[in-house]
Amino acid sequence: MSEYSAGKVDDYADGDRKVVICGDAEIGVFRIGDAFYAWHNRCAHLGGPVCQGRIMKRVLEPVDADLTVRSQAYDESESHIICPWHGYEFSIRTGQHPGNARARLKKAEIIVRDGEIYVRP
Ligand code: FES
Repeated sequence: MSEYSAGKVDDYADGDRKVVICGDAEIGVFRIGDAFYAWHNRCAHLGGPVCQGRIMKRVLEPVDADLTVRSQAYDESESHIICPWHGYEFSIRTGQHPGNARARLKKAEIIVRDGEIYVRP
C-alpha cells in the first residue's frame, strides 16, 4: 500500500491538523499532545469534509441535583472534530461519535519515521 508524506513532526503544534491528498483519498492528520491520528475526510453521517471542521474539547453538561442542566463544562482530556455540514462530532483519538456507537470515522494508518509523518489511506 502506498505511503504519502504528511510533513514533518515539527510542522505540527499540539492541536494542529492538516488535510493531505493521498491518491484518491483525503486524510486528516491531527496532533494531540505527542500523538498523531489520521482519519479519512469523510463524515460517517453523510460524507461531509469532517476533518476540516472546528476542533474543540468535548462538551460536558453537568446535571444538578434537581436534574437540570445549568452550565456547560469541557473535558480537557478529549478533543473532538465537529463536521461542518451538520455538526456531528467525533473523538480525534478514537474516531468515535460520543452518542452513537455505529458512527465512527474511517482510520488511516500513520507512520512516524525519522521526524517525518507518512500516511497509508
Ligand atoms: S455530513 Fe457530517 S454531520 Fe452530516
